[in-house]
Amino acid sequence: MATPLSWAAGDVAGLHPAQSLAARLSLRGRDFLSLHDWTPEELAAALQTARELKLRHRSGQRDQPLRGKTLGMIFAKASTRTRVSFEVGIFQLGGQAIFLNPADLQLGRGETIADTARVLSRYLDGIMIRTYDHREVQELARWAEIPVINGLTDREHPCQVLADLLTIWERKGRLRGLKLAFVGDGNNMAHSLLHGGAKFGMHVAVASPPGYGPDPEVVAEARADAAETGARITLTDDPAEAVRDADVVYTDVWASMGQEAEREVRLRAFRGYTVDRNLMALARPDAIFMHCLPAHRGEEVAPEVIDGPQSVVWDQAENRLHAQKAVMLLTMQD
Ligand code: CP
Ligand code: NVA
Repeated sequence: MATPLSWAAGDVAGLHPAQSLAARLSLRGRDFLSLHDWTPEELAAALQTARELKLRHRSGQRDQPLRGKTLGMIFAKASTRTRVSFEVGIFQLGGQAIFLNPADLQLGRGETIADTARVLSRYLDGIMIRTYDHREVQELARWAEIPVINGLTDREHPCQVLADLLTIWERKGRLRGLKLAFVGDGNNMAHSLLHGGAKFGMHVAVASPPGYGPDPEVVAEARADAAETGARITLTDDPAEAVRDADVVYTDVWASMGQEAEREVRLRAFRGYTVDRNLMALARPDAIFMHCLPAHRGEEVAPEVIDGPQSVVWDQAENRLHAQKAVMLLTMQD
C-alpha cells in the first residue's frame, strides 16, 4: 500500500498551529539524545515537519534551508541506513556531511570527548554520533555548543523510533490508543519504543525472555510519561500475551552490535520468540509488522512475515530520511 501524496498532516498530538510553532521554535539549538528529553508537543512538531518535508520533496520542491551548514557524523559502529539517510538528508536540505571515523580522530588516541566537542563546535553546525556507551553521547552534548543527535547507543535509538512513529501515524492515522507489541531483546530499540509510545499515549507491551528485559530505569522513565498521556506499559515473558490484539508488532535482532560474542547463548535464550505467522495471527487482522533492520530471517522474524503483506519495513527505512531531516532542520536552523 503506497502512502497517498494527499495525506494531510493531521492531528498527531492535538497540536494547535500556535502550539506547533512554539514547539518548533523551542527546538532550535537543542540536542536529540533521547525521545524522553523532548515533550510530546516537540515530538509531534518533529513528526509534522517530517511529513511536510516528505511531501515537499515528493512534489519536487527543493528548498535548501540548511544551505552552508555542515553536519559531522561520528560512527563507532557499522551503519547502512543511518549513515546514508543522514548524509542524503543534510544534502537535500542544502548542507553537507563529513564522515568521521573515531579511530582516525585524535579521540582514538586519547583526546577527551570534552575537548573534541569544543573543537568540533568551532567548525560544524551539528554532530550526529553512533557509539556504544550512552554516557559518551551525553558527555559530547554537555561540551558541544552545537546540537548533538544520537544516531544509536547501546541504550537508545531515538532517530529510528521517530521514523517509526511517522510510519505508524501514516499507516494508522493516529498514535494514541494503539497497542504496539515488541517481541525480543530489551535493547536500545525496545527502550526508544517505550519512550516514544509513552509520549503519545500508545500502549507498549514488551515480551522478552527472563533476564533480557528492558532496563528498569528506562521503564520508569516511560511509565512517568505514560502516567501523563494515558499510555500503558506492560512487560511479560510471553510473546502471545504481548501480541494479542496489537496494532503493531515489532522485533529486532537478538544480538546487537557489540554483543557478537553472546550470539550462541542468545540464540538459545530467545528460542520461541520468533515473530512468525502463528504469532502474527494473534494480533489485530490489520496489524503491521515492523523491524528497524538489519534483520536476521529465521531468527527474530520468519521470512513470510518480514517479506509478507503486513510488513512496513521499507517505509520505516525511508522515513529515517524524512524524520532526520526534520530533526536537523528544527535543531540546526538559524
Ligand atoms: N536501523 C538502523 O539504524 O540501521 P543501520 O544500522 O544500518 O544504520
Ligand atoms: N539493536 C540493534 C539495532 C540496529 C539498528 C543494534 O544495536 O545493533
